[in-house]
Amino acid sequence: QTIYLSDYTPPAFLIDTVHLTFRLHPEKTRVISRIEFRPNPATQSRAFFLHGEGVTLIRASIDGQPVTPDMVQGGLRCDVPDAPFVWEAEVEIAPAQNTALEGLYMSNGMYCTQCEAEGFRKITYYPDRPDVMATFTVRIEGDMPVMLSNGDPVEQGGGVAVWHDPWPKPAYLFALVAGDLVNHPGAFTTRSGREVELNIWVRPGDEGKCAFAMDALKKSMTWDEEVYGREYDLDVFNIVAVDDFNMGAMENKGLNIFNSSCVLASPETSTDANFERIEAIIAHEYFHNWTGNRITCRDWFQLCLKEGLTVYRDSQFTSDMRSAPVKRIGDVIALRARQFREDNGPLAHPVRPESFVEINNFYTATVYEKGAEVIGMLKRLVGDEAYARALDLYFDRHDGQACTIEDWLAVFEEVTGRDLGQFKRWYSQVGTPRLRVTDDYKDGTYTLHFEQETPPTPGQPDKAPQVLPIAVGLLGPNGDEVRETTVLEMTEAKQSFVFEGLSARPVPSILRDFSAPVVLERETDNAERAFLLAHDTDPFNKWEAGRALAREGLIAMILQGAAPDAAYLDAVQSMARDDSLDPAFRALALGLPGQDDLAQTLHDRGHTPDPQAIWDALETLRQARAQHCQDLAVRLYAQYQVDAPYSPDAGQSGARALANAALALITRTDGGAQAQRQYDGATNMTQQLAALSCLLQAGKGEAAVAQFYDQWRDDRLVIDKWFMMQIVNADPEQAATVAGRLTQHPDFEMKNPNRFRATLGALAANPAGFHHAGGAGYRLLADWLIRLDPVNPQTTARMCSAFETWKRYDSSRQALIAEQLDRILATPDLSRDTTEMVSRIRGA
Ligand code: ARG
Ligand code: ZN
Repeated sequence: QTIYLSDYTPPAFLIDTVHLTFRLHPEKTRVISRIEFRPNPATQSRAFFLHGEGVTLIRASIDGQPVTPDMVQGGLRCDVPDAPFVWEAEVEIAPAQNTALEGLYMSNGMYCTQCEAEGFRKITYYPDRPDVMATFTVRIEGDMPVMLSNGDPVEQGGGVAVWHDPWPKPAYLFALVAGDLVNHPGAFTTRSGREVELNIWVRPGDEGKCAFAMDALKKSMTWDEEVYGREYDLDVFNIVAVDDFNMGAMENKGLNIFNSSCVLASPETSTDANFERIEAIIAHEYFHNWTGNRITCRDWFQLCLKEGLTVYRDSQFTSDMRSAPVKRIGDVIALRARQFREDNGPLAHPVRPESFVEINNFYTATVYEKGAEVIGMLKRLVGDEAYARALDLYFDRHDGQACTIEDWLAVFEEVTGRDLGQFKRWYSQVGTPRLRVTDDYKDGTYTLHFEQETPPTPGQPDKAPQVLPIAVGLLGPNGDEVRETTVLEMTEAKQSFVFEGLSARPVPSILRDFSAPVVLERETDNAERAFLLAHDTDPFNKWEAGRALAREGLIAMILQGAAPDAAYLDAVQSMARDDSLDPAFRALALGLPGQDDLAQTLHDRGHTPDPQAIWDALETLRQARAQHCQDLAVRLYAQYQVDAPYSPDAGQSGARALANAALALITRTDGGAQAQRQYDGATNMTQQLAALSCLLQAGKGEAAVAQFYDQWRDDRLVIDKWFMMQIVNADPEQAATVAGRLTQHPDFEMKNPNRFRATLGALAANPAGFHHAGGAGYRLLADWLIRLDPVNPQTTARMCSAFETWKRYDSSRQALIAEQLDRILATPDLSRDTTEMVSRIRGA
C-alpha cells in the first residue's frame, strides 16, 4: 500500500499527556497506557484510529468504561466521545522475540527501543505519527539495575524508575533502556546556567571507551550555543551504546541510543576515521534536540526538514573542529559515491519524496546528504547573515511544532524578501543536474557560458532549470588569482556571465567548494588540470583538478588501453612532495576515483563499464605511481611518523593518513616488508589496520589475519573490521569465496546488523569482486538477503541497494542480477520493506 504526501490530513485527535507503565519481561512485557485525548479543533474528522502492530491487546477502556475496539489492519478503531477523554489500555509484547530491532527489543540481555520512524506502534496502540505531540511520563518496573527513559528522573529504586519529559514530543522520539549498565559521567553548564548531568551508558567492560564521545558531546553543546544560539533544555542527557542496532544512532529526547560502533572509541580499537565519525554522530544526534525534537516533522515526507538540516549542522561542526577543506572533500567523495549513484539509478527520488510504501526505505543519501547540500546552497545564496536571521526566526516561530518544508522556506523568504519558488525545485525534482561550461575571451572580456540539464529519472521525464549557485574564481596565466571567488546565480537553462578588465585569458576555477551538487562537464585538457592542481587557491577545486586528471587518465587506460598518464604522475608527485600543504589534504589527493565512480562516469559517457577492466586499470595506475614516487614515498613515510602519544586530532590523523598512503605505495615495491614491520609494531588501530590492508592487497596477509583474530576475538567491533578487511581487500575472483567462507565462520552472526554489513556489505563494497563475471557474488548476497529478511527486514531492505546500479552493466551481468532479484521477489512472505526495494530496483 502506497502512502502519498498529497493525501495528508491532520489528526482527528490530539494528545495532552501520556502515562506509560512497563512491566518488563523478555517474553511478556506488559505496557499499560493512559492517554488524554481531545478532538483536534483544526479538523472535522472524528475517526479514532490507533496504530498497533504485533501487540496483543489485553484490555481497553475509555473514561474508565471497558470498550471492545474493532481490530483492523495495522491497528484499531473505536467509538469515542466528541469531547476530551481518557484512553487506557494494557497490551503484551515479547521483546526477546523482536529480531527486527524496531520497537522494544533485547540486545545482549538489555532492553532497548528504536521507534523512528514507525516503531512505537510495536510497543502499544497509539496515533504513531509525528504531528501528534505529547508530554510523556514513563514508569518502568523490572529487576534491571539501570532503567532509563526520556526527560528527567522523578523516582528511582526498589525495582521502579519513573521519568518525566516536559517537552511535548511525537512517539518516534520515545525511548526506554533497561539493563546492567555502567556510566561514564560528565557535566555541562549551559550558557544560561543550567547544570546538566551527562552520562554515557555502556556494558561493563566498555567504560574505558567513552571519554572521547563525552568530550565530543560537550564540544557539540558549546558549539550549538555559540553558532546557533541553542541551549540544552533538560537536567540530564543520557547516551546508551547498544550492540544490535539497525542504523548509526537515534536522537530520542534526552536519551540518545547509539550503535556501539558509533560511540565507543579507544586508540587501540578505533581508527582515526572511526574517531572522526563518532564525533560527527554525537554532534548530529545532539543537534537534533533543536532540529528534529523541539521542531519536528509534520509527516515523514518532511524527513529532510530535520535530517538535511542536522547533517548540514554536523558538517559545519566538523569543519570548525577540524579542517574545513578536508571535511568538504570527504563529504563530496561520499556524496558522489552514494547520492549520485542513487540519483542515477532506479531508486532515484526527491529530497522530499512524494510517496512511499515503507518509510524506512527513505532514510537515504538523497534525503540526508542531498538534503544537506540544499541547505548549503540556500546559505550560499542568501549569505551568512541572512541565514542566521532566518534560523532565529525558524526556532522562534516553530518551537514545539511539527513542520513542513514550506514552513522552512517561508522564514527565508520573509527574512530576505526573496522568492524561493524556483529554489524549491531542489526538494521535488529528482536527479543530478549536468552543468556544461564553455568560455570565450576577447579584448579583456572573459565570458563563461553555462548550460544545465537534468537527465530523466523514473516517473520524471521532463526537468525544469534549477537555481544553481556557482562559485567561480579566475587565475591568471602565471597562476595568481585575478578574480576572487564570486557566486554566480544561475536560474535559466542557458546563461552566460561576463568578467571584464582582464589582461590575459584566465583559467577558470568553477564550482569552488563544490557549491552545487551537479556534474560539471567542461572540455579541458590535462595541462589545465595540472595547472589548477598546482595553483588553485580553492582547496576543493585543487583536489578536484587532481581527481579529474586521475579520472581522465584511468578512462583512457580502460577504453583505449593507454599507458598511465605521465602528466598525472608528475602532477601528483609534486603535490605530494609539497610540505606546505596539509598532510591530510595530500593524503586525499593521493586517493583515486573509486571503481563505482569510474563505472558511473563510463556509463554517463555512453560506455558499458567492465568492472574487471576498471579494477585492472586502477591496479596498473597504482603500480606505476608506486614506481614513479618510490623515493618520495620512503621520505614521506619516515617524515610523517607520529612520535607523540596518540591523539585522534586532525593534525595527527592527517600525518598518519599521509604516512599510510605512502605505505601503500611502498608495499607495491617492497612486497610488503614495511607493512609487516608496521603491523608488528603498531600501537594503535589506525596503524594496525592500514598495515593489514596493505598486506592483504599484497597477498601477504595470512599471518596477520590469524594474529589479528587471536588478538581481538573478544572485541565485537574490532572483529567486524576483521571480517570487512578480508573481503574488501580480496582479489576480484576471490571476493565471493572469501565472503562465503566468512559467513560460515563461528563468529558470523546474521542477527547482528554490524556483522552482517561487515560481511555482505563488504562484498558489495568490492565492486570488481561483487560483479565478478560468474555471478557468485550476486548469488551469495541474494541467499543471505533471503535468509535475513524474515529476521530483520529493515537491514535486508537497505542492503538491496547493492543491486541498484545493475542497469549500467552488460546484458550477461544484467541477466544474472535479474535472476537474483526475481528469486528474492518470489520468496514467500517477503517483507514489505524488501518487496518495495527490490521491485523498485527491478523496475517495470
Ligand atoms: N534519526 C536518526 C538519525 O538520523 C536515524 C534513525 C533512522 N531509523 C530508521 N528506522 N530508519 O540520526
Ligand atoms: Zn539524523
